[in-house]
Amino acid sequence: MMAAILPPAMLGILGGGQLGRMFAVAAKTMGYRVTVLDPDADAPAAAFADRHIQAPYNDPAALADLAASCAAITTEFENVNADAMRELAKTTRVSPSGDCVAIAQDRIAEKSWVAKAGLPTAPYLAIESVQDIQVELAPYLPGILKTARLGYDGKGQARVKTADEARAAYANLGGQACVLERMLDLKLELSVIVTRVSPAQSAVFPVAENIHVNGILDESIVPARVAPALAARAQEMARQLAEALDYVGVLAVEFFVLADDTLVVNEIAPRPHNSGHYTLAACLTDQFQQQVRALCGLLPGKTDLLSPVAMVNLLGDVWKDDGGEPNWDVLMEAPNAQLHLYGKKAARPGRKMGHFNVMAATADEALEQARALKDTL
Ligand SMILES: Nc1ncnc2c1ncn2[C@@H]1O[C@H](COP(=O)(O)OP(=O)(O)O)[C@@H](O)[C@H]1O
Ligand SMILES: [Mg+2]
Repeated sequence: MMAAILPPAMLGILGGGQLGRMFAVAAKTMGYRVTVLDPDADAPAAAFADRHIQAPYNDPAALADLAASCAAITTEFENVNADAMRELAKTTRVSPSGDCVAIAQDRIAEKSWVAKAGLPTAPYLAIESVQDIQVELAPYLPGILKTARLGYDGKGQARVKTADEARAAYANLGGQACVLERMLDLKLELSVIVTRVSPAQSAVFPVAENIHVNGILDESIVPARVAPALAARAQEMARQLAEALDYVGVLAVEFFVLADDTLVVNEIAPRPHNSGHYTLAACLTDQFQQQVRALCGLLPGKTDLLSPVAMVNLLGDVWKDDGGEPNWDVLMEAPNAQLHLYGKKAARPGRKMGHFNVMAATADEALEQARALKDTL
């Protein structure tokens, strides 16, 4: 294994949104320096970075600059150019690998890898071109048509009941590569975040139970309200997937739980995940510290849960119609609540502006208090 990268080395990150920002906070706190590559002058991470290279993600000069000036480079999102990551890796330590990013950014590749790892997915049809959808669609209906690339927060998806609807929706999405997935009856949604440095060295966070509204994560609670054996199975599956991918870094795995407690892998993210923000308040090591540690070739930190916790996302919808701030006073006074704001200027509906964690004696209590606090905003 390579020598560990130690402070005050310069770490680079592709993308300067909220995930890049929380990575920068973790890295800076440990004594590293941080360079963010992001085309946006107001990128949330820039406020915490030593250096902001303001350029497109595929700008060759910017990438060469990043490679030359950083000891190691990571990413905050999967939609970067995997080839750019592979190019950076020729001269600089990069984690996760371009190959893993390429898999996570394409639902078709992702699902075939999940199957290759011996894990179940929803029944799905890969649609690379229009001929692929001229088959019997009944096994995938009613279903969700999802673009293979660039979907997030439920965007790039259409719910369809009939074959005609599916074909119309495919045309409507511009004929780009898609997957048609059977709509499953979900009892619950879970996620597991695993940090893997090498085959012998990985750590898995406690399982989060996730509640989505309109395809966007709304709340996560930990411990998840499932039997311990089911939670352990989800953790084992996440580890198995990281192993199959020979993954280095932080990997998030989203699961569906079906009525009979079957676990199905929904999707993966090659980075810290919104459903892991609870770790910032409630775990010995948080997911961004793990990202720094894995990137630097350090052992993953311990992931013990310190308290039951509920995480609530704050979307732009919570802001006043004139863009005015929500009423923070009650939330800020709550001794068991911790607010994180991402420093985004414009509060648009559906835009992730911040989140808060609430710690209590049980996950149910934490959720109840968190909802009450959200109502005061
Ligand atoms: N096959 C499915 N059956 C039932 N619900 C689904 C299915 N696929 C997605 N969903 C719902 O939509 C949400 C978002 O879908 P997902 O594939 O995770 O896309 P995104 O990349 O937008 O997170 C899921 O968390 C789940 O609530
Ligand atoms: Mg998802």
